Amino acid sequence: MGLIPSFPLVHFDFGAIKELAPELANRNIFKPLFLTDQGVVEHGVLKKITDVLPSGVTFAVFGEIPENPTIKGIDRALDIYKEHKCDGIVALGGGSVLDSGKALRVVTTQGGDVIDYLKDPDRIGTNVAPYITIPTTAGTGAEITFGGGIHPETNAPAMSIRSPHVKPDLAICDPELTISLPPHLTAATGMDAVTHCVEGYLSINANAPAEAIALDGIHRALSYIDRAVRDGADREARYNMSMAALEGGMAIYMGLGPIHSLSMAFGDSPLHHGTLVTVSMPAVMRYYDGKIDGKLNAIAHAMGLEGGLGVGERIAVLTENINSRLGLPSGVRKMGYSKNDIEVISGDALDSQFNMTAPLRPTREEYRKIIVEALG
Ligand SMILES: [Fe+2]
Repeated sequence: MGLIPSFPLVHFDFGAIKELAPELANRNIFKPLFLTDQGVVEHGVLKKITDVLPSGVTFAVFGEIPENPTIKGIDRALDIYKEHKCDGIVALGGGSVLDSGKALRVVTTQGGDVIDYLKDPDRIGTNVAPYITIPTTAGTGAEITFGGGIHPETNAPAMSIRSPHVKPDLAICDPELTISLPPHLTAATGMDAVTHCVEGYLSINANAPAEAIALDGIHRALSYIDRAVRDGADREARYNMSMAALEGGMAIYMGLGPIHSLSMAFGDSPLHHGTLVTVSMPAVMRYYDGKIDGKLNAIAHAMGLEGGLGVGERIAVLTENINSRLGLPSGVRKMGYSKNDIEVISGDALDSQFNMTAPLRPTREEYRKIIVEALG
């Protein structure tokens, strides 16, 4: 049966951050916890935002969410939330911060341990803390999605926090906040958005509006990613990359697939998610080649490629060329991944819930082949 879920409210534009103060007031949030990471604090982005809050708003800060989100980080944020008697969460950062906030909004009100909600998402009830997201990267889509990856330990594979109740209440997308994002993160997070659009579009869930959005996201990202990487101050490019990222988040509402299963399987090492998925994408496109060409043709057209015979291979080669042009690595090994046990990696990939919405589910043997190619 078709189910078309709704996205959170979004303020989107240069200067959208000015909406934060009135939105806090509208939602009766008088003491938010700003959840963020050290980079956002050091670059002065947090200060820029808190400086313009009205005098009636006091706030607390937890600025130490790690690069890959862990339960420990969320537990520490929870301590600050309780200590300062906060009444809502504003997450400011990349995917790690925004996903951490989803778990935090549950444990603040429902108690218990984060791990219990990761193991059994059905335990997550409706009673969650108010939650506003403000992305500082353009790619994860985590600002609007109802799931996220959390690592039980730093080097353990990520588990999902997944429930309609963790969906943020509001996202404020201000491309201005992405201007200082360095080129390698602009490239990797931007390509993460492309994989969200590709896997969402290919998902077995039928959702024509989101499919149209996904194709626009692919076209938009590939049209502007080179400019955004070359010149971070290119405002038109930043605007369009932020929009492509948001569209990628909307595409995720249809589900993901093997590219993201691989990111979970390789997630037992601290590798950057966006880099991991774009490096893994060509092997998955080759796996699809000749099997689902109707949908691959539409993706190819959005990318400016010809459809027809060998379309999966053409998408794979284009992705490899883009990765190379943007300075991204050619394989997971080149990212520093050193594990060799293909049986374990393929088992973890098979176990991922992202396979559930894939148009074709790779067998263990097919995953082995995909993994060997993705490793490089
Ligand atoms: Fe992703």
